[in-house]
Amino acid sequence: MIFKEQIIQGIPIALPLKKEYDNTVSHAPKRKDILSLAEKKLAIRNALRYFPVAWHQELSRDFADELNTYGRIYMYRFKPDYELYARPIYEYPHKTMQAAGIMLMIQNNLDPAVAQHPDELITYGGNGGVFQNWAQYLLTMQYLASMTEEQTLHIYSGHPMGLFPSSKEAPRVVVTNGMMIPNYSKPDDWEKFNALGVTQYGQMTAGSYMYIGPQGIVHGTTITIMNAFRKVLKKDENSAGKIFITAGLGGMSGAQPKAGNIAGCITICAEVNAAAATKRHEQGWVDVLVHNLDDLVSRTKKAQANKEVLSIAYIGNIVAVWERFSEENIFIHLGSDQTSLHNPWAGGYYPVEVSFEDANKMMVTNPELFKTKVRASLKRQVAAINQHTLKGTYFFDYGNAFLLEASRADAAVYENDKGEFINFSSLEDENQDWAYPSYIQDILGPMCFDYGFGPFRWVCASGDPKDLEKTDAIAARVLEEIKETAPVEIQQQMQDNITWIKEADKNKMVVGSQARILYADAEGRAKIAEAFNKAIASGELSAPIILGRDHHDVSGTDSPFRETSNIYDGSKFTADMAIHNVIGDSFRGATWVSIHNGGGVGWGEVINGGFGMLLDGSSEASARLKNMLFYDVNNGISRRSWARNKEAIFAIQREMERTPELKVTLPNLVDDFLLDNLFS
Ligand SMILES: NC(=O)c1ccc[n+]([C@@H]2O[C@H](COP(=O)([O-])OP(=O)(O)OC[C@H]3O[C@@H](n4cnc5c(N)ncnc54)[C@H](O)[C@@H]3O)[C@@H](O)[C@H]2O)c1
Repeated sequence: MIFKEQIIQGIPIALPLKKEYDNTVSHAPKRKDILSLAEKKLAIRNALRYFPVAWHQELSRDFADELNTYGRIYMYRFKPDYELYARPIYEYPHKTMQAAGIMLMIQNNLDPAVAQHPDELITYGGNGGVFQNWAQYLLTMQYLASMTEEQTLHIYSGHPMGLFPSSKEAPRVVVTNGMMIPNYSKPDDWEKFNALGVTQYGQMTAGSYMYIGPQGIVHGTTITIMNAFRKVLKKDENSAGKIFITAGLGGMSGAQPKAGNIAGCITICAEVNAAAATKRHEQGWVDVLVHNLDDLVSRTKKAQANKEVLSIAYIGNIVAVWERFSEENIFIHLGSDQTSLHNPWAGGYYPVEVSFEDANKMMVTNPELFKTKVRASLKRQVAAINQHTLKGTYFFDYGNAFLLEASRADAAVYENDKGEFINFSSLEDENQDWAYPSYIQDILGPMCFDYGFGPFRWVCASGDPKDLEKTDAIAARVLEEIKETAPVEIQQQMQDNITWIKEADKNKMVVGSQARILYADAEGRAKIAEAFNKAIASGELSAPIILGRDHHDVSGTDSPFRETSNIYDGSKFTADMAIHNVIGDSFRGATWVSIHNGGGVGWGEVINGGFGMLLDGSSEASARLKNMLFYDVNNGISRRSWARNKEAIFAIQREMERTPELKVTLPNLVDDFLLDNLFS
């Protein structure tokens, strides 16, 4: 049966045969066996409701087997036999091009070249799911193929609840992931309700179909490393021969060595999973693979002496690297970590001195021992990092819950008045901040988000690299025009972004769809999008463009330990901004919107949302993009300015001058002196 017919069919008419377990792709680790017997029956009953009763006997055995073996019911036998990748948009059966664009993005998120565990429908971050099972995928694609512009598809954590009548102006799809009653949003709750098949962790762009491979994060990582070096180096120094140490070569973390190369330093990235490191090496994302610490030390010293721009993947545990470099007295300029500590007990973080294979077994067979090992390992890692920072290394948390989990493990991540590192149990004030900043507090927050710069992205729906080249040129032209009259406060950002887009093609970052990421502010995003829309209308671009962004942005995400960690008015533990954003985007023209509990730092720790928007060259698309992109950025700037962030106050005042219809409540600043004397 041809591809289009299979999509329209949805759940196949005949029961497919059981599939062999595919050993050629990476699989999700076995999940915790957390359900009681009654709950296991409920999970199977839940799974069977997708299928005709005549299949239940056979499928119930099959699903019980999957639940016992993997801890989840993925419905492997329903994975389609056609290839999963972003096809040119016209190849999708559709009644509205908007739905075809969404199908393209869903398939991109499940492409084995893009997805981390494609058979388990996981795109990145160890547990970031597009759907919980293959039945949900099949039904969703079927709905999208048949929907009109008078309908909206509502998706609950991967489950397509159905098509509901709406209007042309409404989003075609509304997605929620992992939304829970707040008191039922702890890590074990996730394991349980996900195993029951009623919720999923959508990460950020996985469950919203907006993941574009590791490129999505390269730009942000490059900006972070470049600006971190600007913080620590003297004016006349550059990053050549200077060391950046970090960990993780997975879905997102795999961007680090490439970004390090673009920033011009020596990047050392430890990765315990040899397969992940080899994949990144084969894809050209890291220059050299090293298997032991002696070789790592000698290769690093050589690179330092020759001031090489080099990225090295060390296959082994990051703790060993920090400790060995301390013994060798090698000075590290920058340090961070991008292991998946948002998911510490199920494969996100591997403890030192336990082999990768043994750790994978232990987390299932002896989870308590595994937890003890992870905590001990984090304490050792922090102790080694502290030795380096005392010598001058600049260490920052990279949005992976490193400091959060290290503090929970009682590692010495706090500082006392004497400048000594102490642990949580030795703290006098339990509200004291960690000794190290997050990259948002020091770098991305004040330098980018507060001005509205964030990870805008687009996908060329033709699948044609020539279209991507043309969009790069259009975007560069637009930014150069804006830069001519941009205020001095944002000149550096503008220049960095122009350099980025001009070199983007050369850096060969496309994996999967023909996509591009480009940090831009509200003005830049709208003007670039408008220029694309005109180029589609004139035929310069051969097909529509799909716009989107990472959730890790100015307005979409409330996350006290990451995106909103530089909000200091107490509101970082609220989630109003993300909720307003999704509602606001949905009636201003988004093609699809999503809102998630969890993403980045973990379930229960963040509420984050995003959008997708199809540009088809029409005047309606032009109106939609202006209205929605404006709100999608300025919502966050207004909140950041209300929190008294001075860069955001500057940005929103400037926006109000440009846009008379915008009226934002501005804060009055209070003199410290007044408060200092109030209770004395
Ligand atoms: N800073 C950002 O902008 C940003 C963006 C997205 C994600 N993140 C966060 O970064 C983390 C990583 O994301 P990802 O998609 O790469 O996840 P991932 O699970 O694909 O990759 C993490 C990698 O770390 C490796 N690892 C774990 N423990 C290790 C150890 N002790 N030593 C060496 N290697 C170890 C794992 O084998 C894995 O390959 C997540 O917590 C994610 O939420 C940050």
